[in-house]
Amino acid sequence: MDLGKFKSVKDMFTLSGQKAIVTGAGGGIGGAIAYGFAELGVDVALFDLDSKRIVELKEILERRFPVKVLAVKVDVCNRDQVEEAVAFVLKNFGQIDILVNSHGIGQWTPFENMTDEDWSRMINVNLTGVFVMCQVVGRHMIRRGRGKIINIASMSGRIVNRPQPQAHYNASKAGVIMLTKSLAAEWAKYGVNVNCVSPGYTLTPLVENLLRSQPEYADQWRSLIPLGRFAEPADVVGAVIFLASRAADYITGHDLVIDGGYTIW
Ligand SMILES: NC(=O)c1ccc[n+]([C@@H]2O[C@H](COP(=O)([O-])OP(=O)(O)OC[C@H]3O[C@@H](n4cnc5c(N)ncnc54)[C@H](O)[C@@H]3O)[C@@H](O)[C@H]2O)c1
Repeated sequence: MDLGKFKSVKDMFTLSGQKAIVTGAGGGIGGAIAYGFAELGVDVALFDLDSKRIVELKEILERRFPVKVLAVKVDVCNRDQVEEAVAFVLKNFGQIDILVNSHGIGQWTPFENMTDEDWSRMINVNLTGVFVMCQVVGRHMIRRGRGKIINIASMSGRIVNRPQPQAHYNASKAGVIMLTKSLAAEWAKYGVNVNCVSPGYTLTPLVENLLRSQPEYADQWRSLIPLGRFAEPADVVGAVIFLASRAADYITGHDLVIDGGYTIW
């Protein structure tokens, strides 16, 4: 069969030798994505505020896989820090083929009680952090005429979760989905594909910490998921790898929902 520009189907999914940045790599989903890239031979820069977790992950990845790993402590909302961190990655890797934005925070608070600080912090980390990362890394990708950006949005950018009140989180994730589509439209001409994935409830420190105050929500949520279980970080990895691969060269501006069917109902 004629596979056009590809030597084989395996070739479509080959990522070996590429260079990636994963933000929030100290967390559940970002850590799993970084692991997936390293196993496939991708040199990976782990970005996070929490340096302990990324230093530990760097050691694990370098012990298991023949790849280069950088652990970079950085606040993705701080442009100067991001510029410096990305320059460090470019000095070490020479190029960046893939950017995954998987940093984020969560909070539950009724809207009538939400403070300006609650609102600003949420929008700053979850949305402005994506803006800064996409812009700084995107400028490099535009110069090269290629690149894949995958933002971790959320099903909360499409539906309102219940029963927890989190209007600012939901708004931040709707913003990530629309930012993704807007960048996809603007940067298609530069060969830069921009997509997002929207996980449902995924067992990570973010969700586990929130559930501590209302453990009874876990059963309620599970009853709303057609597949009857929460996601594990690994459930998100394959989708991100697919979007980063050449198999997805013709996909841009897409939001791939990984929610066990939650948003069907
Ligand atoms: N867990 C879920 O149920 C779920 C569902 C949908 C979407 N998401 C999204 O997936 C992404 C990853 O979440 P997770 O569940 O792995 O959470 P997590 O708490 O395990 O990981 C998030 C990571 O982001 C880092 N971080 C926070 N602010 C930062 C900043 N300013 N600069 C750099 N790093 C920062 C944290 O230190 C942490 O390591 C987030 O965007 C989250 O909103 C999670």
